[in-house]
Amino acid sequence: MNRTVKTLLQLGLASVLLVPALPAISQDKATAPLLSVKQIMNAIITPMTSTIWGAYQLQTDAEWQAVENAALTVMAAGNLLMAGGASADEQAQAREADWQTYNAQMIAAARQVLAAVASKDEDALSAAGNDALYPPCESCHQQYQSH
Ligand code: HEC
Repeated sequence: MNRTVKTLLQLGLASVLLVPALPAISQDKATAPLLSVKQIMNAIITPMTSTIWGAYQLQTDAEWQAVENAALTVMAAGNLLMAGGASADEQAQAREADWQTYNAQMIAAARQVLAAVASKDEDALSAAGNDALYPPCESCHQQYQSH
């Protein structure tokens, strides 16, 4: 076997070995976080929690629906925060157990808000907002917000 044929065969083998890795690379790109943690906080968490914490004397179905949508959106933000923000540092931070714990508590609190909405129970709604939704914000910020 001459040197050229041998090199071509090696290249051929290498490309066969590399092919299976390609779908994984493009999938990583597709699921890579696009927003920073700060953007998630300001664009999603803050407006949605304002709706939840500001809800009182709800009368129409549309008003309850807005609170339900806000709780679902907080869950979606929690879903994003499981992977962290757009930078490598923010993703490393999100791999810590405490980060996942506080985030899971926020998601569980949003589920309590949904339950209160389902029974149109305003006392349960304000308990979920104050006693369940607020504490994980504080715990996570104490540990991870640097300023
Ligand atoms: C799992 C962790 C985590 C949870 C839970 C969390 N946050 Fe944050 N939040 C952060 C981090 C980290 C920052 C700092 C981001 C930065 O400055 O880059 C932040 C920053 C903020 C900011 C300041 C944004 C700015 O412009 O500096 C607000 C407002 C905020 N969070 C609201 C909330 C509220 C409200 C909740 C609860 C419903 C909450 N966060 C829950 C991690 C969390």
